[in-house]
Formats: sequence, structure tokens, C-alpha cells
Amino acid sequence: MSFDVAAVRADFPILAREVNDRPLVYLDNGASAQKPRQVIDAITRAYEGEYANVHRGLHYLSNLATDRYEAVRGIIARFLHAKNEEEVIFTSGSTEAINLVAYGWAAPRLQAGDEIVLSVLEHHANIVPWHFLRERQGVVLKWVEPEPDGSLPPEKILEAVGPKTRLIAVTHMSNVTGTVVDVGAIAKRTEVPVLVDGSQAAVHMPVDVDALGVDFYCITGHKLYGPSGSGAIWIRAARQAEMRPFLGGGDMIRTVSRDSVDYADPPLRFEAGTPGIVNQIGLGAALDYMMQLGMENIAAHERTLRDHARTRLRELNWLSIQGDAPDKGAIFSMTMDGAHAHDISTILDKRGIAVRAGSHCAMPLMDFFGVSASARASFGMYNTLDEVDALIDGLQFCRELFA
Ligand code: ALA
Repeated sequence: MSFDVAAVRADFPILAREVNDRPLVYLDNGASAQKPRQVIDAITRAYEGEYANVHRGLHYLSNLATDRYEAVRGIIARFLHAKNEEEVIFTSGSTEAINLVAYGWAAPRLQAGDEIVLSVLEHHANIVPWHFLRERQGVVLKWVEPEPDGSLPPEKILEAVGPKTRLIAVTHMSNVTGTVVDVGAIAKRTEVPVLVDGSQAAVHMPVDVDALGVDFYCITGHKLYGPSGSGAIWIRAARQAEMRPFLGGGDMIRTVSRDSVDYADPPLRFEAGTPGIVNQIGLGAALDYMMQLGMENIAAHERTLRDHARTRLRELNWLSIQGDAPDKGAIFSMTMDGAHAHDISTILDKRGIAVRAGSHCAMPLMDFFGVSASARASFGMYNTLDEVDALIDGLQFCRELFA
């Protein structure tokens, strides 16, 4: 099946708009992706005709909303190739997901001196929850640096693992460099549980949690062309059994009395309170949409974008690219002498091109590259080769202005 980027673009209403009197060139997908009509329609349908609280009512709408909401668990399981949909826990995104593991699995199990191995590529969402354990419980964070080109060989992670390592927390794709980490090769060669931040990777390539052999894998809906506030974490049943509840409240209990509480079985045990019902329904529509297009087809299209962008960016010998690993997604962070990242972003914006500038919630990685800020172009399934060229023209214009 071929990938018809024009047809895909037609599904995203916002892509038809202009910004600063120029056609929008949206290259900030790493921060958040735009939404297709299919997602917007699913949200409207839910609120217009199928909305009530879930798991609680005996009335028609509550049952219907529960069915729609619970069906998304199955969609996520299919998307991640998970065999058991009970292993899928809804969260508001990756930040909540990783905090769930930190509070629910790691905090009660880890003691002072125990180690967590993590990479310098990580997003703050996969750093700060572990700092909590360092500050509060004396857990030791063992950092693994990437190679100068941003790649991270599995051996480097495995070499850092010792007798006191209790967890490996690593990204599947860096949000700054696009580096793809072979998390499967890590998980297959160690007994230590592996938590994978799949926030970026799951958007750009097929993911099979079972084949990867990892223990925890989180995704975030707003990057997956779904609503913000949606997401999930897949947690292997054996690990779920080791977890204590994180948030307490309604929906996660079987019975509560003055003296005791009996928790519901997983996954509900880890889903306290009224959830993001319609957000998750929107995420289900987004994942259905992606699976219909085919993740292999999306990945192939984005490889074409990556290769074209890499070739064209390399022609700009006054531009520094942070990280250029052979295996990477179509994410490029860059700096230019004489122009601050915010200047680059502002100049590009005047030409209708949206990129992110700053430290990308990855300050240890910025330190590693010796930069305080960069401009980042991150591509998605609806971007085109012409948009790569528009970015190059915009960067050349910047260079002329600041040279
Ligand atoms: N994590 C998001 C990014 O990379 C916000 O921009």
C-alpha cells in the first residue's frame, strides 16, 4: 500500500490555514501533533450523543460511554501489539505514566544505594520522577551518555548495569535528536526491568511491546494525533502485580469502609477518579487512523522526509545539528552562530514555519551538546518534501539576516 500524503493532509483541517500570510508549515510535531477530522469527529460524536460517566451507571448512556471508552484499551493493545489488554493502563500522558511507575512500582521497592540506569537522552518526564527517588530515598541515578553523534548503543546501557541496578529507564526515540534506541536489545540481555518512554517512537514506527521484551512502555496521545490529556502505559502483568496503587479515589476500589479498603483488580486499580473519557475516545480514533494508514507506511514516508532533510541540512555548513545518529527519526535540532534559537524560530514563524526553540525539556542532553538552546524541526506523517525545502529556504534567510 502506498502512502498518499495529499490525502492524509486533507484529513487535517488546520493544515489548510495560513500563518503570517503564508501557508502553514507545521514542524513542531515533537511538541504536539495536529488532529485529523476522524479524531475531531469522534470527540464531537461522543459529546453530542454518547456522553456520560463511565463504569458507574446502569443507564443507557453510561453503558454506551463505558463501551466506547473501554474499546480504546483494546485499540491501544493492538497498536502496541500487546497480547493482553488488561496490561494497558490509561493515563493522561507519559508524565503521569512514568510517575505511576515511580510511585507505584519503584518507590516501595527501591532502597538507599539501589540504582536506576538512565540515559542522557531522556526527556525531563523520564528524569524528574527518578530525582524524587534520589532526593527522598537515596536512590542512585547512573547516567549513560550517548556517542557524540547522539546514538546510544545498547552495550553502553548494559555496561552501566550492576548488582544494585533495579531499573533501566530509557527513551525509544529522543525528542531532541530523533535517535532510535534499540530497547529490545537492552531488554533481551538483562534481567533488570526496563521502562521505555515511547512518547516519540510510537508516533513514527511500529511498536511491538511483546517482541521488545520490555516491562513498561508509555505513549502520549497528543503526539499521536490524538487529544492532549490522553495516553497509556503498558505494564507487563508480572510488574503490575508488584505495584501498589498510586492515586487513590473512586473507580480503583472494590469496597471501602472506615477501617479498610479493598482495591479493584488492575488495570482499574491504577485509574483513580473520573478519567479523561472523551480524550481517550479521541485517542482511540487517532490510533485507528494510524493503523489504517499502516505504521510501516507512515515510517517509510517519514524516512523519506528524514533522508531529504538530512541531505539538505548537511549542505548548510554554517549550521550545527545536535545529533546525527544513523538510526533516527525525522527530528532535527540545530544552532547557528550569531543567531539565538529563539531568533531562528521567530524568523521561521514569519514565513509560516512552526518549529520549537529552547531546551526541549531535555537539559542534561543540551549540556552534553554544550548548547543552552536549539531550534528543532520535528516532522510528522503529513509533512512533505516541499516543506523540508521551505525550512531550508527559511534557514538560509535567517543566515543572511544574522551573518
Ligand atoms: N515533549 C515535548 C517536546 O519534545 C513537549 O517538545
